[in-house]
Amino acid sequence: MNTSTPPGSSTPGGSGLSEAGRPRDFPIRRGCPFAAPAEYDTLRTDDPVARVTLPTKREAWVVSRYDDVRALLSDPRASADIRRPNFPALGEGEQEAGAEFRPFIRTDAPEHTRYRRMLLPEFTVRRVRAMRPAVQARVDELVDDMLAAEQPVDFVSVYANAVSTSVICELLGIPRENLEFFRDVTRISGSRHSTAEQVSEALGGLFGLIAGLVAERQEEPGDDLLSKLVTDHLNTGNVTLNELLSAVGITINAGRETSTNMIALSTLLLLDRPDLKEELLADPTLMPRAVDELLRVMSIADSIPLRVAAEDIELSGRVIPADDGVIGLLAGANHDPERFEHPEQVDFHRPENHHIAFGYGVHQCLGQHLARLELEIALETLLRRVPTLRLAGDREEVTFKHDSATFGLEELMVTW
Ligand code: HEM
Repeated sequence: MNTSTPPGSSTPGGSGLSEAGRPRDFPIRRGCPFAAPAEYDTLRTDDPVARVTLPTKREAWVVSRYDDVRALLSDPRASADIRRPNFPALGEGEQEAGAEFRPFIRTDAPEHTRYRRMLLPEFTVRRVRAMRPAVQARVDELVDDMLAAEQPVDFVSVYANAVSTSVICELLGIPRENLEFFRDVTRISGSRHSTAEQVSEALGGLFGLIAGLVAERQEEPGDDLLSKLVTDHLNTGNVTLNELLSAVGITINAGRETSTNMIALSTLLLLDRPDLKEELLADPTLMPRAVDELLRVMSIADSIPLRVAAEDIELSGRVIPADDGVIGLLAGANHDPERFEHPEQVDFHRPENHHIAFGYGVHQCLGQHLARLELEIALETLLRRVPTLRLAGDREEVTFKHDSATFGLEELMVTW
């Protein structure tokens, strides 16, 4: 039975309605870049399953408590299929182009399972561990390049983006001269303001580039991941060319921007907080725990887990009716005081840190081990080799990405 109340009409701690009489607007902007929006605290206590209006003017629900977000993301009735009419994409471009390109992050079983099975063996802890020397060598080169550049430099493009893109290129065996191109593709496809045509064009360009590399690997396979996917999955008929392009394309798109944002934001936090920087310099073995704490605190992929209720789903006593869109707020969950003591504090010594910054359930981030490795190496190397790194301008001039799929920095001018 559908026991939900009409949209926006039942918010125990407040009306939840905007002045225009419709549910409050979502996304909600962050105040502090290193924390969830303050309003999430109110949502969690007063309106844990809240009705919202998205930038597309569609309405959806947002879920903000840790237990509810985990329950939602592990519920087989929560569909990630972007073709469903009420899919809660935050931009019209993503909604329309997504239905055309169907990245597997936005599909359900059994289609999703096939992609996942193909890629999972390449992203295991063991595989990723074997990449450590190559990642370290590349990061060292990028620090060399930065130190040789004329100061000040934009840390986001010269270091954060260069590290994340190089690592994906290294993994797939793709030439790294496409750094700027990849950055543009993600920027356009991840922006809430992009039209469907712009997103289609960007993704079409990306797929075209990968198709060229696939053709090369068919002629002459190497020992990289792309060659392996071609040999084991495309040539055997396990996947079609379009499916392969989609799998590789989403891996590049999902893996680049996220890590770029995490490296840049974490660096800014360490510049803001010399005490935390000192802690890491004094004890580099803290780094893996620090990375997980930074992931929790920033929760940059806050509203990436978009779902549609395939049937009625009940959470915290509220029923999300079948066919309604619903978003599991990762920053809401990761700052839930019921789960994390003093969630606003950055504490590298947290005794247990079961954050869900990488999501939860069947769509949990495929690249999480690689992301952790990249972050550890990028931050440790930077602190060790450029201990005098500092902002080149005023702190107030630092610009943030409030309108893209994952939260991050537009630019960070630094000197040393
Ligand atoms: C700090 C970095 C990262 C964060 C915070 C992050 C976050 C996430 C989240 C929250 C999801 C789940 C979305 C959902 O439930 O709908 C996800 C999925 C995914 N991520 Fe990441 N990610 C990061 C890095 C990476 C990297 C480095 C790669 C690849 C090299 C990657 C590849 C993917 C893929 C392919 C998926 C889709 C998985 C699926 O649908 O089964 N991510 N990521």
